[in-house]
Amino acid sequence: MSATTPRIAVLGSGAGSNFVAVANAIAAGTLDATVVLVVSDYSNAGILKHAADRDLPHVFLDPGPNPNRFADEAQIELARLLREARADAIVCAGFMRVLKAPMLTEWAGRIINIHPSLLPQFRGRDAISQALAAGIPVTGCTVHLVTEEIDSGEILAQSEVPLLAGDTKETLTPRINAAERALYPSALQKWLHSPGSRNSE
Ligand code: GAR
Repeated sequence: MSATTPRIAVLGSGAGSNFVAVANAIAAGTLDATVVLVVSDYSNAGILKHAADRDLPHVFLDPGPNPNRFADEAQIELARLLREARADAIVCAGFMRVLKAPMLTEWAGRIINIHPSLLPQFRGRDAISQALAAGIPVTGCTVHLVTEEIDSGEILAQSEVPLLAGDTKETLTPRINAAERALYPSALQKWLHSPGSRNSE
């Protein structure tokens, strides 16, 4: 880590396997970044446990009373937490909430996400089931910038995963997750060390 090491905050709602891949890449020295905060909208999310195991700062953020909406108050509190942590860039790793202002305005161009399909195919929820239902031969995962329109920001990296005969969500999901874990750290290293991902103030 040096004075120029990017300070990243990681947002996640689930098991945290992508976060573990990112943390392991940092520990191995293949990703030059430091995790300044891990935030989850689920108090019992695996990602928080993984952060705790690594002694990294982590916090549960109450998303508000409506399970299908990320409350305005929560968006404001998230922006405050990330400001306080002096995050340079925000890494979504299985964060299942839609970000809006002030997050998208304050960190415009500095929020990155991984999505389990070859975007622009199968945006939104349950992209893996969408791919299976479509009966296509190849799906995969995409690293992209987060903008107002869901799963529509600039595509930074993709990895293909062929569907196999008889695939189900249970058999396909682990192969996509493995492709994500291989792709996200290297895509992050490239993006974080290119102009544009950091606060240029
Ligand atoms: C990953 O497959 C990620 O692509 C997906 O959630 C999973 C999180 O797994 N994200 C989305 O679907 C976002 N639209 P993880 O918690 O084990 O990293």
